[in-house]
Amino acid sequence: MTSLSQSPAWQQLRRLAVPRLTDLFDSNSKRAAHYRLTAAGIRLDYSRQPITDDILNALFDLAQQEDVTGWRDKMFAGAAINATEQRPVLHWQWRLPHPPADLAGTRERMRTVADQIRTGAWRGATGKTIKHIVNIGIGGSDQGPRLIYDGLVPLGIQDLQLHFVSNIDPVDLDRVTSLCDADEILFVIVSKSMNTLETRLNAEKAKAWLIQNLGMEADLSRHLLAVTTNLPTAAALGIPAENCFGFSSGVGGRYSIWSPVSLAVMIVLGSDAFDEFLAGAAEMDEHFQTASLTDNMPVLLALLSLWQINFNGTTAEAVLPYSTHLALLPAYLQQLVMESNGKSVTRDGAPVDYATAPVIFGSAGTLGQHSFHQLLHQGTSRIGSDFILIKGDQDDEMQRWLLANGLAQSAALLYGHEDADPHRAHPGNRASNLLLIDRLTPRSLGALLALYEHKTFVQGILWRINPFDQFGVELGKIMAADTFNALSGHTDTRIDTATAAFIADL
Ligand code: F6P
Repeated sequence: MTSLSQSPAWQQLRRLAVPRLTDLFDSNSKRAAHYRLTAAGIRLDYSRQPITDDILNALFDLAQQEDVTGWRDKMFAGAAINATEQRPVLHWQWRLPHPPADLAGTRERMRTVADQIRTGAWRGATGKTIKHIVNIGIGGSDQGPRLIYDGLVPLGIQDLQLHFVSNIDPVDLDRVTSLCDADEILFVIVSKSMNTLETRLNAEKAKAWLIQNLGMEADLSRHLLAVTTNLPTAAALGIPAENCFGFSSGVGGRYSIWSPVSLAVMIVLGSDAFDEFLAGAAEMDEHFQTASLTDNMPVLLALLSLWQINFNGTTAEAVLPYSTHLALLPAYLQQLVMESNGKSVTRDGAPVDYATAPVIFGSAGTLGQHSFHQLLHQGTSRIGSDFILIKGDQDDEMQRWLLANGLAQSAALLYGHEDADPHRAHPGNRASNLLLIDRLTPRSLGALLALYEHKTFVQGILWRINPFDQFGVELGKIMAADTFNALSGHTDTRIDTATAAFIADL
């Protein structure tokens, strides 16, 4: 098989010059209206990308050459496309309007427990109602629920507080337990594998704290739930089967927000809001599966980003949500994109000779404007930006300012500013996407996250890598165990000379 970089579609793209953005706008007054698309309530303006119809056609040729639709259909048919782990990719099943019976059954149990806790029917060991839910998990078992909660909390009930514990730093759990009474707390231990060090240690510590405060005889099943694919290990933690919510190994950690992994937020926000969140994602799935390549938003976003990364030297992408509620989105997408596509070998194990995932960073607008936007405007790196704008209530002056700032930043990147003083000049010609959502609701949040999931998937396919494994995170975990042993004084532990020398001087 011809390598990607030698393939006809790639070679065709190499022959095309990258146009200057301002020239494109100068030569076509209708450009902004031309390069625009709406799907699942999200409007994408991609006119600020350095593309022409010829470039777009060449990009679509690449998507065809790499059989994006074929891979998409294989994913939705449940084929084992995560070949390195011999697993299907099944996160999308959790947002089907009519999921398979086992998933529907688990969803029903989630609903029941959420309703019991919300109505006060579920009591703690001493008969008190639950006031604090604590999600213990890390990575995908933390960031997704955290993002939904931060994004949608005003819709929740305020006498039920949700807390998150993820770091192995003992302070993480102490900070939460110091605020709560043990008889009003419910821990939701979330771990796909139940083998993750941080989560295991925090869960054991939480259980010890419950026993210390409620006594050895207390019924801890009133205070512990588990979400996992590894039910035996949850049982070993003393969590009864009826308190466990399972999902299959085909749901990747960073794709698990739709599954029981979000049980804690479902409890706090209510199952109706969570259903809406899933419905928004399902709408984007439908679009992804049915729209033609040329009108397919995830495919377009993936191709535009690839054009910039592989043919215009872009090394990083800034995620800029102009919404406090989406402040955690950059961190969420960091895991989604960089853990999925931060790879250097193809599906067949051959080294790639082209760039893959960019560095993802960002913050809520306008905070970033007072920080790293300096580099976006005048720095030497080429960085793409996604401005995620919420229209909201434009009668509200501050909301208007928020939108105005996002639009102004994107325009400043595009047009720049000439100045006799080089320190004050802005070069411009810097690309961005505008994604506009009318209102941030469970539904629009679901659609937005599914959009980025599919974009990430399509890029993995285009780069011929597997977006669903993450072996790169394993080596450090193994070395941490050896380093821990060395720090604990086990002289027979084999560790590298650099770390040994550092430890010797501690
Ligand atoms: O170490 C990376 C990772 O495996 C992520 O992919 C995952 O989301 C996270 O750890 C947590 O894993 P688990 O849910 O199995 O505890």
